[in-house]
Amino acid sequence: MRHFRWSEENEVFLAQIDAEHRDLFRIADRLQQAVAGNAAVAVKEHLHTLIAHAEEHFSHEEWLMQSVRYSAYGWHLQQHNTARRRLKLLAPLVESGESEAAELLLEFLEGWLRDHTTVTDRMMAAHVRNYERANATSALERWGTPLPAETENLPRTIRFCDACDDHTSHEIRAGGPVCLRCVERSVSADLDRD
Ligand SMILES: [Fe+2]
Repeated sequence: MRHFRWSEENEVFLAQIDAEHRDLFRIADRLQQAVAGNAAVAVKEHLHTLIAHAEEHFSHEEWLMQSVRYSAYGWHLQQHNTARRRLKLLAPLVESGESEAAELLLEFLEGWLRDHTTVTDRMMAAHVRNYERANATSALERWGTPLPAETENLPRTIRFCDACDDHTSHEIRAGGPVCLRCVERSVSADLDRD
């Protein structure tokens, strides 16, 4: 059996991204169990869930990288696209019961998830945190002075957070701009309910 357990080694220290990674590891593990048990319906179900959640997660990271003007965006995107192409290529074969294709997909997923989370996503997350710190420093430098008029034209990542009113925020929730700290709080609450 291949190893699909999220651990501290995979942690990138952005709560929302870590929660999405844990979800992908869980689905890959369920897929592996369905493949091992020759459960065709479950294989199809977990495969579709994996493809949908992976796409949502990749799009989220790509939005985040663009919003903080991440310089290694192209390199990171290329890795997402490799995973997209591999899933697209192997999914129909796995669905039609090709056990060799299922093995190839699980092998690919195990290596890709490990390398991508421990290196590529960690680099991205470090850049995001530094971007936050730089903006927080600018905000402190303006302490006590009225917000300049050009605040309205700031990139959307540094508008006010809906939850705590901090104006160094990342708009990474569908409902509106929410800063990473508030996202972390709400994700922890979500996880506590599991
Ligand atoms: Fe990524």
